[in-house]
Amino acid sequence: MANVYIAGCSRGIGLELVRRHAERGDTVFAMNRNIGTQDALAALADAHDNVSLHELDAGDLDRIDGAVAATGDGSVDLLYIVAGVTGPLNAELATPIDWDGWDSAIDIMVKGPLAIFKAFLPRMHEGTKVVPFSSQLAASTWPMGGMYAYVACKSALNGVMRGVAKDVKDKGIIIALLHPGWVQTDMGGEQAEITVEESASGIVALADGLSMEDSGEFFKWNGEKHAW
Ligand SMILES: NC(=O)c1ccc[n+]([C@@H]2O[C@H](COP(=O)([O-])OP(=O)(O)OC[C@H]3O[C@@H](n4cnc5c(N)ncnc54)[C@H](OP(=O)(O)O)[C@@H]3O)[C@@H](O)[C@H]2O)c1
Repeated sequence: MANVYIAGCSRGIGLELVRRHAERGDTVFAMNRNIGTQDALAALADAHDNVSLHELDAGDLDRIDGAVAATGDGSVDLLYIVAGVTGPLNAELATPIDWDGWDSAIDIMVKGPLAIFKAFLPRMHEGTKVVPFSSQLAASTWPMGGMYAYVACKSALNGVMRGVAKDVKDKGIIIALLHPGWVQTDMGGEQAEITVEESASGIVALADGLSMEDSGEFFKWNGEKHAW
């Protein structure tokens, strides 16, 4: 059974990934900011001995090394970097630009994933799989108005993690950028195209099948390649 680390899993797709990996017997390290005792993640941990909860704020860059160290020294077989926020909206440029909101979004979705990856790197091995959560909005094929910060962050994440994938190729570490689908979560909204269950089941199957030749590529939740 694999050691699976999930950064950003109190709700939405990350929470469903915790559930699925727990149910198949993996050892799941569930990491989120503001770990609670009464929420759905806490209930999952109560119900499964193989799920442990760990405090990690993807945007608190100075504390990421310590938060990762607090998960122990186990090897990393699979790391999902899920944490994401919509960031400030600026539809039709009608409101002032919220630069603090931009900075926070960049910390959580660009710098944080790089810092999380780097902190776990010494515990990775040949065949470790890393799945940073991007978005179709990062692709040149999906122009989208209004969500400038989000688009900037996910585009930057793709560029950064593609570069990291090249740099760790000789260690046999596989990095696959992911568009999880337009998913019915707090972020995706009720009108989104697919359920959390459809997204997460596709993502787990994708992760299972990843090989070295997939590293540095951009995938959809259903296993298809995504255009850059
Ligand atoms: N849903 C979609 O349609 C869609 C489409 C494309 C890409 N994505 C991407 O997929 C990922 C998951 O999306 P989702 O729809 O599941 O979102 P969601 O339901 O809004 O959940 C976001 C998760 O990220 C966590 N998070 C946010 N900021 C964090 C931080 N600083 N540190 C640690 N955890 C943090 C949240 O925890 P809290 O409860 O503490 O806020 C929550 O568990 C995101 O990266 C998103 O950008 C989603």
